[in-house]
Amino acid sequence: MKNFLSVDDVSSIPSLVDRALGYKADPFKQDTLGRHKTLGMLFLNPSMRTRISTQVAARNLGMEVVVFNIDKEGWKLEFADGAVMSEGTSEHVREAAAVMGQYFDILAIRTFPALKDREEDYSEQYISQFVKHAGIPVLSLESATLHPLQSLADIVTISECWKEKRKPKVVMSWAPHVRALPQAVPNSFAQWINAWDKADFVIAQPEGYELDEKFTRGAVVMHDQAKALEGADFVYVKNWSSYADYGQITCTDASWMITPERLRNTNRARIMHCLPVRRNVVIADAVLDSADSIVVQEAGNRVWAAQAVLGEILTAF
Ligand code: CP
Repeated sequence: MKNFLSVDDVSSIPSLVDRALGYKADPFKQDTLGRHKTLGMLFLNPSMRTRISTQVAARNLGMEVVVFNIDKEGWKLEFADGAVMSEGTSEHVREAAAVMGQYFDILAIRTFPALKDREEDYSEQYISQFVKHAGIPVLSLESATLHPLQSLADIVTISECWKEKRKPKVVMSWAPHVRALPQAVPNSFAQWINAWDKADFVIAQPEGYELDEKFTRGAVVMHDQAKALEGADFVYVKNWSSYADYGQITCTDASWMITPERLRNTNRARIMHCLPVRRNVVIADAVLDSADSIVVQEAGNRVWAAQAVLGEILTAF
């Protein structure tokens, strides 16, 4: 593996999941693999889980880690080629990325979309420029349209919870939120679960919340949440803003919140969410505090997902 930007960089999802679960069983079994190697972690946006889990994963492999909150502590970056930098930006990504390539062995980046211009966000111009100019492997810590480390942890979590022979029914349900959120997590989950091909996948969403078909690729889409949830084994809850009416909130229907009543006709579904989650807006307390919620286990698996990816990149050096 050279870069880790999407599921397309993965040669075998089952092997990567096995690698993650192997590290979960024995975290330090390759604790010298990253000796004398440094991971640079660059944040243009906030994070708790991604930041800490990736740091822990790198440390388990013997790597040094440098974290740089470039949005708060760095020079304001310019990404446009040919820009006349006479206004707010002080440093071009061409130099910034190339310089980081001198300091680090692997570069990890979080860069959210602005949710103003769909074409610009979906071109992934920010993370792509780092790939182009850093000259070292680049790992996505969530980009404008995808969150592959989250999705890998999600697949790891489903894999370790599901022991039956039949495929589980996995329903990704939109839920309300007070802010317009990116489509990165649901895009990525859809992309991974389709590529994994070990689940029956359904998306429940209000009309107008269709995701880019490039990622959902023929998934069953339903606008009746109660019907979609019937017989579900896993419910993956997430809000996202509209892709069609780009970045807008076009539905505020509170009845889409996940409550015990809404889950009554599931197969005692396990409840997943990438976190952070707004309680009693997205998911009710009674669900998050129930034995069926696996959101903390899912967040814990972020360490093993990150370790599996770093392990693959380090092995390829
Ligand atoms: N799920 C996730 O990416 O969490 P953070 O934003 O806290 O990193």
